[in-house]
Amino acid sequence: MRSRLSTESSAGEASAILLLENIHPVAAESFRAGGDFRVETTAGSPREDELVGMLGGVQVLGIRSKTRITDRVLEAAPQLIAVGCFCIGTDQVDIEAATRRGVAVFNAPFSNTRSVAELTIAEVVMLARRAAQRSMELHLGRWQKSAAGCMEVRRKTIGIVGYGHIGPQVGLLGEALGMKVVFHDIVRKLALGNARQVANLDELLELSDFVTMHVPDTVLTRGMMGREQLARMRPGSYLLNLSRGSVVDIVALCEALRNGHLAGAALDVFPEEPNSSRDPFQSDLCGLDNVILTPHIGGSTEEAQRNIGLEVSGALLDYVQTGSSTGCANLPEVQMPEIADSLRVLNIHKDVPGVLSRVNGLVAGMGVNIKAQSYHTREGIGYLIMDAERTLSRAIAGEIAALESNIRTRILNG
Ligand code: NAI
Repeated sequence: MRSRLSTESSAGEASAILLLENIHPVAAESFRAGGDFRVETTAGSPREDELVGMLGGVQVLGIRSKTRITDRVLEAAPQLIAVGCFCIGTDQVDIEAATRRGVAVFNAPFSNTRSVAELTIAEVVMLARRAAQRSMELHLGRWQKSAAGCMEVRRKTIGIVGYGHIGPQVGLLGEALGMKVVFHDIVRKLALGNARQVANLDELLELSDFVTMHVPDTVLTRGMMGREQLARMRPGSYLLNLSRGSVVDIVALCEALRNGHLAGAALDVFPEEPNSSRDPFQSDLCGLDNVILTPHIGGSTEEAQRNIGLEVSGALLDYVQTGSSTGCANLPEVQMPEIADSLRVLNIHKDVPGVLSRVNGLVAGMGVNIKAQSYHTREGIGYLIMDAERTLSRAIAGEIAALESNIRTRILNG
């Protein structure tokens, strides 16, 4: 598969990859090792005008969270087949415009899972020992050596809300410290280790010494830890939120901390977060006893950055060289093992009735056998990977592209 390159680059010319914003060097290394690519890297995030001028011939563009990929940028880059967001989200990309043009968008939503789990467990211990509080006091010259309200976490119960990617990792680390693990998820989940899924959130709140949130921001999770839920938590228990700021009602949390119902809290995410390190942070939580505040750094580690570099470059390489859209943020997910001695046709199209039979008809009309096909649709877009006999003329690309349904067609050499 390594020799496969898009026919959309000029004959004999290596595919061009442009990586902006100081993407981890492991990404450029993977591209260079993975095929015949011209890889250019730059440190900054160009403005729209500048970016438009940089995209001539670029087939794959790598960005982090600062560079905005607008409709205008995409319009100026007809050869662009994929954008790699070397970060967690894709908010900086006009996804609708990318999809309309058949530009695949990839990101790395789960590369920092372990980093978040480690900080969560570290904070569980810090809260139980009031260690952050003691550290702050000592910075102010106050020696408060005391065992009051401090405890081991061994045999305590940690309740994990949201058992997706991060939740189970937190559970395994907690178990390694001798904690009992319960979790609540809206989906039935396979429990790792000795963890146990409980019937509902209320049961978890009543059982847990530490409640830790690992849910996404959805209509169901917004404010899900409100006054009523906090009151249901055990007296002297702790709340941790390293998921999304919208999940916890901060006013109610401050009340529960001030009146002593909760013994402490750790928050890494907030309903309103400063846009940059130049902007101030303000919250009613500031100055409360035994409250650990961190500036949304749960996933921010060197290892996570490297993982992001590897994960996104790997997905982009696969997409360019095999057409696999596994993990793609906007196109239907399709992948197919390579069939020897075949020509691979990739067609992104509008999902209207009869597309497949028309494409197949064009191939049959050339007297060529189709060896395998894989196909999926998603939100009005269809994506077809087809392996046909090698005798298929490359002119097929033009014929498919002429169909009204066509968005983008590529041919890969077998
Ligand atoms: P995930 O999508 O893998 O798992 C979320 C889990 O929550 C799923 O199992 C889902 O079924 C469950 N869930 C959804 N709604 C629920 C509800 N109402 N009640 C109970 N469970 C519910 O997400 P992942 O990767 O584990 O991340 C969890 C959170 O952590 C996300 O909000 C993510 O944005 C955040 N995050 C924070 C970071 C930081 O730097 N602090 C870094 C990485 C992720």
